Amino acid sequence: MKILICENYEHLSEVASNIIEDKITANPKCVLGLATGGTPEGTYQRLIDKYKQGSLDFSSVTTFNLDEYYGLNGRHPQSYAKYMYDKLFKHINIDINNTNIPQGDVDDIKKECKRYEEAILEAGGIDLQLLGIGTNGHIGFNEPNAYLKTKTHLVKLKEETINANSRFFEKKEDVPTRAITMGIKSIFRAKEILLLASGPEKAPIIMELLKGQLSTYVPASILNLHPSVTIVVDKAFIEYLK
Ligand code: F6R
Repeated sequence: MKILICENYEHLSEVASNIIEDKITANPKCVLGLATGGTPEGTYQRLIDKYKQGSLDFSSVTTFNLDEYYGLNGRHPQSYAKYMYDKLFKHINIDINNTNIPQGDVDDIKKECKRYEEAILEAGGIDLQLLGIGTNGHIGFNEPNAYLKTKTHLVKLKEETINANSRFFEKKEDVPTRAITMGIKSIFRAKEILLLASGPEKAPIIMELLKGQLSTYVPASILNLHPSVTIVVDKAFIEYLK
């Protein structure tokens, strides 16, 4: 596990976008696993800048997002499909048919989870998975629990996750209480993992993760077993250690 400590959020975003750029340059047909939330927004903006400057070509890239709110249609303003379209896809030359996000508004949820899992395998698996982390240690929406599910599944969000995500909604009651998420194995199968954490509120959970102990109550701790993980944090992490 490698940890990179950056000056600030802008630097973190630059470093993360450089890692993604290197991956695409080395393999223009690579499969990227993507995350939503506040943390990767700067990284996506840098990737857009690189595309506009002509140094990045997304035309053969395939993407799979970690999760989607259950019950939200892809056109809903707070859906992760809309987030990805607005914050990245519409600004770059990716083929929208090569972008994948679980469908949140399907009738048969089990079928959708199975379809998504199979689509990742059919694409040859994920080359680089971008992750954020919840203050409670969740990755994707794999919430702390007595057990962790391995494959894409429907999950009930924890109160702290709903609270954290309420900042993107008008009121807390609007935040969906369930989501479809890749499972721990779906994430773990990625050849390389890039986890971003910014701000003092993420420092305690990063410390917990770096202890190297495994617990289903800290889902991200499972990353200690993965052969290729890079964690990028900003200086708030160092401030926390002082
Ligand atoms: C989002 C996701 C979540 C977030 C996490 C951190 O697709 O899977 O695990 O990465 O909740 O969110 P932010 O970046 O908003 O702090």
